[in-house]
Amino acid sequence: MLLIAEKIEKKFDKTEVLKGISIEVKEGEVVAVIGPSGSGKSTLLRCLTQLEKIDKGRIEICQKLMVDTQANHGYADPKVLHEIILEVGLVFQNFNLFPHFSVLRNIVDAQVKVLGIDKKEATEKAMILLDKMNLRDKAGAYPCELSGGQQQRIAIARALALNPRILFFDEPTSALDPELTGEILKVIRALAEEKMTW
Ligand SMILES: Nc1ncnc2c1ncn2[C@@H]1O[C@H](COP(=O)(O)OP(=O)(O)OP(=O)(O)O)[C@@H](O)[C@H]1O
Ligand SMILES: [Mg+2]
Repeated sequence: MLLIAEKIEKKFDKTEVLKGISIEVKEGEVVAVIGPSGSGKSTLLRCLTQLEKIDKGRIEICQKLMVDTQANHGYADPKVLHEIILEVGLVFQNFNLFPHFSVLRNIVDAQVKVLGIDKKEATEKAMILLDKMNLRDKAGAYPCELSGGQQQRIAIARALALNPRILFFDEPTSALDPELTGEILKVIRALAEEKMTW
């Protein structure tokens, strides 16, 4: 199993959002979480990616224990938590690209900062990913010069550049015009066929 979550509970003040959610994901598996607005889908992803802390439950990612509230230490120590962060990528609804950086720099800087690899290698990898996304000619453009669908493909390329074993998407097409959602779904389908897990 790449991801095991057991009986996760999370509340904000008195609002119980996650009430004992369990999920298991195998390598190469594609899982979609569907539910009404406000039901806790984003909260679940935020807990799995350490953007929120759970109140109760157990989460294991890539055979590393992130948290077990039944064990006396609760969350793992910072070193392990950091190792786990490196295993996962997250693509947001509203892309979250840096607006003042070019497309290329958005993808290169992430690799240099997070993986500590040199700029030349990071640039080569970025260009391969841009090719894959059919956006090589946009390397020098700024995010505001691109369509929503193009920005989302850049955000996916940036996440992939960090070699995650699991890629999470939080409603990757909901901010897009209907004509543009197809191109993102095509990219996600191709990733699934390559056995990327999310
Ligand atoms: N930081 C927060 N503080 C307080 N309440 C929060 C916080 N984040 C989420 N909530 C509440 O938790 C509940 C679940 O929100 P969440 O964003 O996870 O829903 P969702 O299923 O992703 O909805 P949508 O489909 O609209 O994106 C909502 O009632 C929301 O108001
Ligand atoms: Mg949401």
